[in-house]
Amino acid sequence: MSFRNLCCVVFLSFVSLYVEAAKPIPELVTQNGRHALMVDGAPWLILGAQTNNSSNYPAALKEVWPVVEQVHANTVEINVAWEQIEPREGEFDFSYIDYLLKDARKHNVRLILLWFATWKNNAPHYAPAWVKLDDARFPRVTLKDGSTLNSLSPVHRSTLEADKKAFVAMMQHLKKVDKQRTVILVQVQNEVGTYGAARDYSEAAQALFDAAVPEALVSGLEREPGTWSEVFGEDADEFFHAWHIARYCDEIAEAGKAAYPLPMNVNVALRNPFNPGKPGQYSSGGATDNVIPVWKIAAPHIDMISPDIYFRDYRTVKRVLELYAREDNPLFVAEIGNDQPYARYLFETLGHQGIGFAPFGMDTTGYTNYPLGAPGYTEAEFEVFAEVYRVIAPWAREWARLSFEGKVWGVAEPADTFEMDEQIWNAKHTEKDAASVAKDYTQRLDLGRWDAEVTYGRPMFWVAPPQGNFPAKGGALIAQLSENTFLVSGYHSRVTFLPSAEIEGERTMTVRVEEGYFDEDHNWIMERVWNGDQTDWGLNFDGKPHLLKVQMATY
Ligand code: DGJ
Repeated sequence: MSFRNLCCVVFLSFVSLYVEAAKPIPELVTQNGRHALMVDGAPWLILGAQTNNSSNYPAALKEVWPVVEQVHANTVEINVAWEQIEPREGEFDFSYIDYLLKDARKHNVRLILLWFATWKNNAPHYAPAWVKLDDARFPRVTLKDGSTLNSLSPVHRSTLEADKKAFVAMMQHLKKVDKQRTVILVQVQNEVGTYGAARDYSEAAQALFDAAVPEALVSGLEREPGTWSEVFGEDADEFFHAWHIARYCDEIAEAGKAAYPLPMNVNVALRNPFNPGKPGQYSSGGATDNVIPVWKIAAPHIDMISPDIYFRDYRTVKRVLELYAREDNPLFVAEIGNDQPYARYLFETLGHQGIGFAPFGMDTTGYTNYPLGAPGYTEAEFEVFAEVYRVIAPWAREWARLSFEGKVWGVAEPADTFEMDEQIWNAKHTEKDAASVAKDYTQRLDLGRWDAEVTYGRPMFWVAPPQGNFPAKGGALIAQLSENTFLVSGYHSRVTFLPSAEIEGERTMTVRVEEGYFDEDHNWIMERVWNGDQTDWGLNFDGKPHLLKVQMATY
């Protein structure tokens, strides 16, 4: 190689190194009450897949990638266990993380790391043995009768400092080895909280409980000062536990961010919003809907509180999405069951300005969490997620930008069919009159000058009333480009544009429906125009993905 060529190579390597080093660190941004997870400088939509719990070893990863590829996920959620990175106190081993990062890059996906440490579904199962076996240094939650639960207490600095030290070491390592920003988000702990008691009743905890509620919480919630019981009455135990767990997670997140400021979230073992039960029956102290305000005050370094959804019915899922999609909280469905009925909730999540969605258990390591998720782990079972991801994956980045900057709508088929065979479902229909069946399968969305009517289970041709799909699976997505122009896609549904009250009485027309896609430079590329049968009876979608640009007009 000539000296000139050599100089060229050296120069180009420096340029590529610089370009890599210059990739912005992912961040969560909020503007006008809307949110975006910025990855490589632009909004990112997490089309996620979470692995099973024990897939966090190189040997298991080969059972992960084929499923990730099959479903078109762009992000994998996978755990890092405290026990695996610090098996002996002070001795760190990051070989798994290094392997994982390389493997993820090879498969062209981003990662969300789940820090399984003090809490993994309430217990310290993933903490190293030197933590789990040292009750004196790392005390567990104590009940009123003096017995203990296998859930670590949040009120001890010894536990917090040990967890924090390991977490910070992990973040420092990531900073060093991940200039490519393969990791885009870190989940602090997993489903924190305690089952079996509302709080820790140990002497140490009781002393704090009998003292005054911290000023930040009292003033943040606009309450009068006092002890926990005085301020919160019946809710005092749970609010106390939530405060201390949230402060604990916040301190870990703060220290981790000081090392390497990636966005951080916590996930939640939900309580049923319509029938919550008592704290301890659900994971007390986690960020359940009733204590979100406590968490928001206690944990400013946690960017997002993310629901884990294992309710199958539409009504409950919709309520959960409403509760966690807030101006102060980006909605990210950190987990959802991987069975068929859940897949359609991708559309509803996006309609609540969700920044991501991740079915749980997406690998073939030989485990299923049925009845929460699917009974098996066959290709066919995963395919339902491939089908819904296919609708959005090609334009995920455009959707994320439009959701951040403007208005988007998304709905899932509202009537449930699970635990029903087709005959019973049909029989239920015949019990009702046609109009009320049709009503069950009709949603009307207010787009401003226009409404969109979304219906399910009707032939593509003609006006036959909607009957629903068996099993329920449909959905629709709409993003506004201008007052009269929209991007539309759907899955086993019909979308019909109708005049809203604003333009009632005016003559309306679908001027043009283009089918197309966005190229790598975000330009719209038109492939064909839908007209005739394809538009006479609304915009009909089956399982084949179509992206449409619809221009409406009055004349
Ligand atoms: C929710 C937890 O966050 C997951 O890690 C897993 O344990 C599921 N529950 C059940 O499979």
